[in-house]
Amino acid sequence: MTITAPEPQRERLDPDEQPTALVKLWICPNDDLPPALAGVLATHWLDEQERGNANRFLFERDRRQYLVAHTLVRRALALEVGVAEADLVFWRSSRGRPFLRPLPGGPPRGSAHLDFNLSHASGYNLLGIVRGHRVGVDVERLDRDPQTIDTIVRTFTPQEQSWVAGAAPGHPRTRRALRLWTLKEAYSKARGLGLGLPFDEFSFTLAEDRVLDFRPPADDLGRQWRFLELEPVPEVLVAVAVPDDADRSPTLQLHYGFPWGREEARRFVLPEPVGGPPGY
Ligand SMILES: CC(C)(COP(=O)(O)OP(=O)(O)OC[C@H]1O[C@@H](n2cnc3c(N)ncnc32)[C@H](O)[C@@H]1OP(=O)(O)O)[C@@H](O)C(=O)NCCC(=O)NCCS
Repeated sequence: MTITAPEPQRERLDPDEQPTALVKLWICPNDDLPPALAGVLATHWLDEQERGNANRFLFERDRRQYLVAHTLVRRALALEVGVAEADLVFWRSSRGRPFLRPLPGGPPRGSAHLDFNLSHASGYNLLGIVRGHRVGVDVERLDRDPQTIDTIVRTFTPQEQSWVAGAAPGHPRTRRALRLWTLKEAYSKARGLGLGLPFDEFSFTLAEDRVLDFRPPADDLGRQWRFLELEPVPEVLVAVAVPDDADRSPTLQLHYGFPWGREEARRFVLPEPVGGPPGY
C-alpha cells in the first residue's frame, strides 16, 4: 500500500512568486549532500552552537545527519526569506523547539509569523515551512526493529493499540504503528510539546489510505487540524500537521533533495480538517 494524497501536479516555481501554499516541505536524503561539501557549507553557514553540537557526536554517521539537516534548514529558510544562510539567527523554546528570530527591519521576503519544523531519521531530513501558523513534521523509515515497534505501540491509546494488533505481524503491523507514530509526533511537534505530550492523551482513527478522525488532547478542543501522510520514497513515511486555516489555500509543495535552487515542486491538496470539539 502506498499512502499518498491525491495525484500531485507538477509545477515550476516563479522565483518572485509569493507563497500561496500553506506548507512548503523539503525531503532531503543525506546522500544528496556529499560529506566534504556538507563540511564546507557547515563551516560557512552554521553558528558556533551548531558546529559545537555537530562535533559532539560520537559516530560520523550521526554527525553527517546533523550537518545535512542543519544546512538544509539554513538553505531553505534563506531562500524563503531572502537572507544569507549565515545571517539567520535561531532561538529555542524551553522545550527545545527552534524558531527563527525576527530580523531587524524585516528580511526582503518577510519573516513575520514564519514557522518551521525539522525531523531527521536514518539518512533522511524533513523540513516544513509555513507562514502565519505552526507546522509539525516527522519522518521515519519502515525498517525499524520489532522491539522498537512494541515500545512505541505501548504509548498509544488502547483503541490504537488494537488497530495496530489487527494487522498481520511484520511489515503490515510496523506500517500501522509508524503511521500513528509519525502523525502523533507531527502534531505534538507542531504544538512545540514533543514527547512532553503523552501519546495516549490524543488519538487518530486511520483508514488504509487516510486519516478519518482525530481526537485532540483536552487542551486543544477548539481547533481543527489538517494531517497529510506521504511516502515520498518507498519505505519512508512522512507526516505533516498544520492547524486548519479557512483563509489559505490548503496546499503543500513538496521539494525533493537539497535546495540548491527553486526547482520543480510537487503540489498536494491537504486533506479535509479533522478534530475540534464534538459536533464541530
Ligand atoms: C521533539 C522531539 C519529539 C524530537 O524527537 P525525535 O523523534 O528524536 O526527533 P525528530 O528528528 O523528529 O525531530 C528533531 C527536531 O525537532 C525539533 N524539536 C526539538 N524540540 C522540539 C519541540 N519541543 N517541538 C517541536 N520540535 C522540536 C528540533 O529541530 C530537532 O532537531 P535538532 O535538535 O537537530 O534541531 C523530542 O526531542 C522531544 O520531545 N523534545 C522535547 C523535550 C522536552 O520537553 N524538554 C523539556 C525540557 S527538559
